[in-house]
Amino acid sequence: MVSQMPMATLTPDTQSLLARRERVLSPSYRLFYEEPLHAVRGEGVWLYDAQGRRYLDAYNNVPVAGHCHPHIVEQVTRQASVLNTHTRYLTELPVLVAERLLATMPAEMGSVILTNSGSEANDLAIRISRMVTGGTGVIVTDCAYHGTSDLLQGMSPVTGLPLGKDVFTISLPLEMPDPAAFTALVRDALDRMREAGVKPAALLVDTIFGSDGAVSDPVGFLKGAVEEMHREGAFVIADEVQPGFGRTGAGMWGFARHGIVPDFVTMGKPMGNGHPVAALVTRREIAEAFTRHQRYFNTFGGSSVSCAAALATMDVIEREGLIANAATVGGYLKQKLSDLAARHPNILTSVRGAGLFIGVQTPSGEIATRIVNGLRQSGVLIGGAGRGNAALKVRPPLPITQDEADYLIQQFEQVIQTTAG
Ligand SMILES: Cc1ncc(COP(=O)(O)O)c(C=O)c1O
Repeated sequence: MVSQMPMATLTPDTQSLLARRERVLSPSYRLFYEEPLHAVRGEGVWLYDAQGRRYLDAYNNVPVAGHCHPHIVEQVTRQASVLNTHTRYLTELPVLVAERLLATMPAEMGSVILTNSGSEANDLAIRISRMVTGGTGVIVTDCAYHGTSDLLQGMSPVTGLPLGKDVFTISLPLEMPDPAAFTALVRDALDRMREAGVKPAALLVDTIFGSDGAVSDPVGFLKGAVEEMHREGAFVIADEVQPGFGRTGAGMWGFARHGIVPDFVTMGKPMGNGHPVAALVTRREIAEAFTRHQRYFNTFGGSSVSCAAALATMDVIEREGLIANAATVGGYLKQKLSDLAARHPNILTSVRGAGLFIGVQTPSGEIATRIVNGLRQSGVLIGGAGRGNAALKVRPPLPITQDEADYLIQQFEQVIQTTAG
């Protein structure tokens, strides 16, 4: 993601681990930050490095309930010592997960397939969409990321790799003039498809548009696009890998902010608070149409320990009121970041987002990278996103307190002052 500091300036333990890593892991891996963080422990919103220094983890949207949450650790450990098997046996845990997920969704959603990663869930959603509609065309935004399989790399323009066959992009404005603007973009993509002789299959969108830089407003702008896709006999896939499990502070799912009912909901990252568990949820009739053509089995998708992690994560989200906290502390943090932007308009040009998914725009990727690395040195971890990597992504675990948000703002202000100077 960023170039690394010269080896000699790194601590001896970082140098040594880095050298071992480079010897045995593929060079295709990238580390965050000019000075890579050697993380050895996590607790709540904090990560600790090998020297015992703590960092407020405001980047990592996987440990939604906080790092190493005791309830989740206990449930995963207990299940690992009782039974860990797959969905070809009759066991209760996958049923419990599916029941609990469906209870958070519109009544139209009636069927769950458990997978190991968001990529597998998206891959399957595309496969089913193409099979059931008979179309092939897929619409994505031009900075989207949807996964790591060969198919999905071709639907993830942010990677810079060539687009896949029959994939059409729309260029999402960061500040949308009105809800109809998005509908017009989708309509235009559908027209381009028709001209190219391609039958549409699906619109695939992250409902908080995280890698586009957190495009959140106006609320409801996805509505018209759903109608356009359905009019064409095509589907809408809500990729909830980023906004799902309460992050937007407006219910469990990002699509709820838009008042839509998608045809597929895909999820992953926060689902097991760090344990690999993901899922695809769809309408019953779509699942039945798919099943008439194909069976599905995934060795680890829906295994007992993964299900225990998912159930325990949902327990914590409910018991600790994490969605309400995302709304309250997220609103506070967004306001404070907006105040900061008003004081430094040449560096922070706008603040977007919902709940605890906040995007802060800067004028360039170079400035954003300086801020990201400056904050890492000050003990706060955030990341970059959007066109030219010029936006900052702020996504702390959902239990973050107002005091911790204040700490983040204090460090932010200091780093901005240095960047401005
Ligand atoms: C929006 C979105 N969709 C899908 C994925 C892929 O998920 P996974 O890495 O679990 O395969 C990601 C991962 O970053 C993502 O951000």
